[in-house]
Amino acid sequence: MRKILKLGVLTSGGDAPGMNPCIRSVVRTAIYNGLQVVGIRRGYQGLIEDDMYDMNTRSVSNILDLGGTILKTARCLPFRTDEGMETAYQNLKKREIDAIVVIGGDGTFTGALRFSQKYPDIAVLGVPGTIDNDLYGSTYTLGFDTATNTVIEAIDKIRDTADAHDRLFFIEVMGRDSGAIALRAGISCGAEAILLPEKETAIENLIENLKGGQYNKKSSSIVIVAEGDKHGGAYDIAKIVQKEVKFYDVKVTILGHLQRGGSPSAFDRILGSRLGYAAVNALIAGETQKMVGLEANHIKITSLEEALTQHEFKLEEDLMQMAEILSI
Ligand code: F6P
Repeated sequence: MRKILKLGVLTSGGDAPGMNPCIRSVVRTAIYNGLQVVGIRRGYQGLIEDDMYDMNTRSVSNILDLGGTILKTARCLPFRTDEGMETAYQNLKKREIDAIVVIGGDGTFTGALRFSQKYPDIAVLGVPGTIDNDLYGSTYTLGFDTATNTVIEAIDKIRDTADAHDRLFFIEVMGRDSGAIALRAGISCGAEAILLPEKETAIENLIENLKGGQYNKKSSSIVIVAEGDKHGGAYDIAKIVQKEVKFYDVKVTILGHLQRGGSPSAFDRILGSRLGYAAVNALIAGETQKMVGLEANHIKITSLEEALTQHEFKLEEDLMQMAEILSI
């Protein structure tokens, strides 16, 4: 079994609340086990530019409550090239780093898998960190819970003003290919409709549904649009609907990047701690090209390949049906 002496840790892709608790857990678990730890700044960019620093237990003091990531992050195009990967590899060898923990989403894992197939002497372990909650092998990804709570808080406020003015709001939430935030927020805020990339909703049905709301004497209506919805963004859909639904004054809110920030929830702090701890222990046990996740409240180890090829998150049909029934 390979012996790991020095571990690198990085965050890559879109930041997610819970990344800092995870970094803290990786650093302290590694040090507890006698490993040296190196923090890599701005994800794969830092690997290529050799932007790394030695970490100790105090490097991660008082970060549990911080949003973002103390290691910073980036979407790094050069890492997709052979030259970029080779430079990253040489920098790791120079620093005698045997293993890396990569915290991020599917783009991060795609890079991690390619890298470790090319350079198998560097062990690689992934931790799912994305607000999109769209990775196979973990029921929850870091940041999803906090982001959903942030969205709920915002929509509750919009509901107040929507109700006061008898208005219809289209609210766009994040999730490039994933309706996970939209669905959970829709249920939690009693949205009249939820438009998801995973499910085709005919605009005519949406219009009928909203007209039914007026018939049922609803004083406001909220439609949540996941950004990946096939009809386009909230503005496009609102324009079409406005022509048919004359009784409501229509407004649009794009929640945007505020969904990515903020102090991690208790759930994300605990999840980050558990996954960081599990990732280091898995590396010590000799694992590589794997992702640690949480399923049925237990740590589950999935191959990166499986996490990626099966990455399409399946939204729960029963929740979608329930959301529809409860919003009448
Ligand atoms: O993957 C997380 C995410 O927030 C997606 O929901 C969103 O589509 C994307 O990142 C936005 O990326 P960026 O911050 O690079 O614009």
